[in-house]
Amino acid sequence: MPLTPDLESGDRSHSLSPVESVAQISVILQDTDPTLDPELASLARQAAAEGIVLLRNERETLPLGLQSVAVFGRVQYDWFTVGYGSGGDVKVPYVWNLIAGLRDAGIAVDGELAGVYQEWCAQNRPSHSGTWGTWPHHFPEMPLEDGVVKAAALRTDIALIVIGRAAGEARESLREPGSFLLTDDERHLLDQVTTSFERTVVVIDAGNVMDLSWLSDYGERISAVLYAWQGGMEGARAVAGVLAGELMPSGKLTDTIAFSYEDYPSSANFGDPDVSHYAEDVFVGYRYFETFAPERVQFGFGFGLGYTTFALEIEKTVIDSDTLIAVVNVSNTGTQHSGKEVVQIYVGAPDGALSQPARRLAAYAKTPELAPGEKARVEMSFALTDFASFDDSGVTGHRSAYVLEPGTYPVFLGTDVRSAVEITAFEVSELRIVQKLRETAAVKAETPFDRMVLARDAEGRAVVAWEPAPTASVARAERVRAGLPEEVSPTGDQGIVLDDVAAGRATLDSFIAQLSDVELAAIAHGDITMHSPLGVPGNAGVLGGVTESLRAKGVRPVTTTDGPSGIRIGAYASLLPSGTALASSWNTSLVEELAALHGQEMVHKGSDVLLSPGMNLHRDPLCGRNFEYFSEDPLVTGRTGAAVVRGVQSAGVSACPKHFAVNNQETNRTRHDARVSERALRELYLRGFEICVREANPKTIMTSYNKVNGVWAHYHYDLVTSLLREEWGYEGCVITDWWMEDDVDPDFPALTNNAFRVRAQVDVLMPGGVKTESGPQDYADDTILTSLQQAEGLTRGELQRGARNVLGLVLALTPTIDGRSSSR
Ligand code: BGC
Repeated sequence: MPLTPDLESGDRSHSLSPVESVAQISVILQDTDPTLDPELASLARQAAAEGIVLLRNERETLPLGLQSVAVFGRVQYDWFTVGYGSGGDVKVPYVWNLIAGLRDAGIAVDGELAGVYQEWCAQNRPSHSGTWGTWPHHFPEMPLEDGVVKAAALRTDIALIVIGRAAGEARESLREPGSFLLTDDERHLLDQVTTSFERTVVVIDAGNVMDLSWLSDYGERISAVLYAWQGGMEGARAVAGVLAGELMPSGKLTDTIAFSYEDYPSSANFGDPDVSHYAEDVFVGYRYFETFAPERVQFGFGFGLGYTTFALEIEKTVIDSDTLIAVVNVSNTGTQHSGKEVVQIYVGAPDGALSQPARRLAAYAKTPELAPGEKARVEMSFALTDFASFDDSGVTGHRSAYVLEPGTYPVFLGTDVRSAVEITAFEVSELRIVQKLRETAAVKAETPFDRMVLARDAEGRAVVAWEPAPTASVARAERVRAGLPEEVSPTGDQGIVLDDVAAGRATLDSFIAQLSDVELAAIAHGDITMHSPLGVPGNAGVLGGVTESLRAKGVRPVTTTDGPSGIRIGAYASLLPSGTALASSWNTSLVEELAALHGQEMVHKGSDVLLSPGMNLHRDPLCGRNFEYFSEDPLVTGRTGAAVVRGVQSAGVSACPKHFAVNNQETNRTRHDARVSERALRELYLRGFEICVREANPKTIMTSYNKVNGVWAHYHYDLVTSLLREEWGYEGCVITDWWMEDDVDPDFPALTNNAFRVRAQVDVLMPGGVKTESGPQDYADDTILTSLQQAEGLTRGELQRGARNVLGLVLALTPTIDGRSSSR
């Protein structure tokens, strides 16, 4: 059952929705807020530009240079800056539209045509009821007489058509015209324009991958195509800069663009409101296409052109036991334009007992901007052991272990997954156990399903076959009992304040020993509602010092704000490029630099925890929140996420990677059960989080709404305690996504709701109040205190353990501006 409309709408949209912001601020406003850093805006433009993927550029159509251009499509004014929902709902100080951007970049825009569009757009504002989750996927096109197009063709050299799409939270992209597919009006516009113009440039302004199969109908008449993603407030200006040749395109696809939606391996199992079987298993995105269906790829993973050409020359490759080091010289072989190239290394695997994708991204690096003739030396490395496979069935004889099966592991180097060529190989002479682990979060025995595996036909070609996904063999109850923490004996108030702990005058445990059960229970939930009076106006919720007695002990309130694309509060805040745009730059140091400035903006604005980055995989092109997420690949996801976390946290505040885990669809997102093998979980859906935790140590992590193999993520002991904390060593604070579903612990019926959650070490319910059928309520439940009193109920040791995680976050927050600690 979906959330009730009341709950979904709640009081969540307090600033301009993207629809309003785009429609109403299609001219540039003056920035009214002095805390917005112009350096951030300029870096945001650069990041947006680096994320733009040039998919086609025939007859050197781009850059436009001195050529004049006629711009078609209403999105030139009604530009989509970001997707919908919490991830994009920022009170944006200004938005560039494309026409303003082009003019700013010195492009000769056909003013007559632009005038017609401007007037029509002003009279036909995109309308929207404001109801949460019903936002438009596109805006209807302006009808255009053939004569207008023909006249524009006489005045200008080149046509540019902009097509815009958006989706969002609680708003999937749909396999329908106006969303994944073109509308008839857009088709008609393409026909009209390509008939009159010799050369047409198409710009896609969208958060999700959309169908591009129609490109083949127009041949070279569509001579250039840019996938611009959604680049935030500076996005249209970034596109203009790239079109003009002031900024060079260097983005690469972080997803595969297939010829049709049905080609995607997830398509048969996406969008069911109740259950999704992740039947494609480890064959997500290019892992599927490169193995089974290379001919169904229109634009491959990792692909993207520049305005110049590059040559790669391998200086050396060294395999030192498990590690490969490759040194590559990259030269700009063009004569006119500078550019950056992304060097990518993929690894294959031998056929074995475990099915393997033909290629997996193992390392990548982006060059600095190279002038014509210039060269850069790029060094990359990876460990083969990081690409060991998790045997979740025991088929190799080693259940629950990461193994490397014997054989040859070819290594490919190139600038996209398909064209990468073999440069060397690892040889593994006999089966190796890389790491022996415990079964965790496996598929329940009572909900079996079949998963995709690889078979070979008589000619040795890969063909899809199926086998039952392995199901759980371990009882959770024993694991929980064995992991119950010691209690710290309560001492009552000893006058220790949290600053004493910070200064090393007292231990955290001696502080915690003072807390009453009521105080401990309060620390386990936020300040009940969004827009807490304890935080900056428009905050998403506050945690930590949520009662007077906690504040008297020096526990300060910690303010959370959305994320990812900007700080969602009542005041103006910068709107950054969306997650996919950032990831498509493949430039993690640029992402980190931008996030560092964003962290500083958080300090200015009074935000302690940014609910960002969004780190779920692009399992399917229709997922509404794909714009917030990075890629179909876990390495790109993990490394980009880690860059965001490092950047944000360099300002002493906290990032909060979300949604842990497997939040890959919006349909019925709070009730949906994602059923997925442990192998696919570990190798794909959790992998990005793991990389991020190990590389960047986020101070906070948010669980997801959905169930993972039958258990809501906010109750998932296996995911949060066994895996995240015990296996990966995470010591930070875990919070829920906003509100949670009622449930009883199946193994320990004395634990319901918040008690069940605290046992999993999901430390804080956000924003804190209970949720009922009629919507969120402004009180907390008493399940923690009740359970503490019961036989086999929650223990005080567990409650104290949760408090330790939360107070660890409070202590770790040291907001700094320009290296100086902030007084707030
Ligand atoms: C979203 C989260 C968001 C939270 C607070 C939830 O609906 O799923 O990503 O951070 O609301 O706005």
